[in-house]
Amino acid sequence: MTKRSGRVGAGVAIALSIAFPAAAQTGQSASGYKAPVISDTGRLEGPRQPIFFRHDIHAGQDQIPCLYCHSTVTISSEPGIPAVQTCFGCHQMIGGSTESHKAEIKKVRDAWANKQPPVWTRVHALPGFVRFPHQRHIKILGTESCSTCHGEVNRMPQVYQVATLVSLLRPDRWTADGS
Ligand code: HEC
Ligand code: HEC
Ligand code: HEC
Repeated sequence: MTKRSGRVGAGVAIALSIAFPAAAQTGQSASGYKAPVISDTGRLEGPRQPIFFRHDIHAGQDQIPCLYCHSTVTISSEPGIPAVQTCFGCHQMIGGSTESHKAEIKKVRDAWANKQPPVWTRVHALPGFVRFPHQRHIKILGTESCSTCHGEVNRMPQVYQVATLVSLLRPDRWTADGS
């Protein structure tokens, strides 16, 4: 490892130790999971987003809890997409360990500096007249239940919809085992 990447690594460890002391103690990703390098983003499923934000890196490799970013999931029908401020809290320090990460993280910093938050494309969207009481499902199914409806988001480089929304609304999904 070069000195340069060592310094980047320390930055990550510091930022993560502030947010997640347990994860940072090992100095490695807590999960033991290493997200793949992706060279051809055109082949990924799901809509292309304005910043290539990877759930497999954040929620998978670095084990940032879903609720750290989607914090209103237990209290609102809108789980909410985090504000750039949440991103910048880490990316003020974490600049990225590869050229492609650096380029995408620069977009986060620019969005913060220019007060122009990214306009994320919605992946799941029910027709406007259907109200899905997200928080009530989480109350019953628990905060670990996300994959029941959304699949293994923590392995997705780009989020896509795994089940039809109609099937998500079937009451038999709402049991704890989701079967
Ligand atoms: C708790 C800390 C933390 C938060 C919060 C966070 N990140 Fe990251 N992010 C990281 C770490 C660690 C990496 C890996 C850096 C590396 O090794 O290149 C990373 C990598 C990235 C990358 C490059 C890899 C990729 O995903 O394509 C982008 C882009 C990125 N983050 C965007 C965001 C955005 C947008 C947000 C807010 C929605 C955000 N991050 C919130 C810690 C965080
Ligand atoms: C570091 C912040 C962060 C973490 C941690 C995170 N997310 Fe996200 N999530 C985002 C952002 C930003 C978007 C919007 C961009 C996108 O779709 O990738 C998003 C989008 C989504 C979407 C698609 C929303 C839509 O438009 O329909 C789902 C589903 C989702 N996240 C689930 C999860 C789950 C499940 C976890 C935990 C395994 C998780 N997220 C962890 C930031 C985060
Ligand atoms: C019972 C099925 C179900 C479960 C469990 C579930 N979701 Fe969802 N989620 C949905 C549906 C359906 C939508 C689309 C809602 C709409 O369009 O109004 C959605 C939408 C979302 C969105 C996008 C909404 C927005 O505001 O842009 C995010 C983010 C999200 N879910 C995150 C999560 C997270 C994190 C968890 C786990 C804590 C979770 N979901 C658990 C069914 C579920």
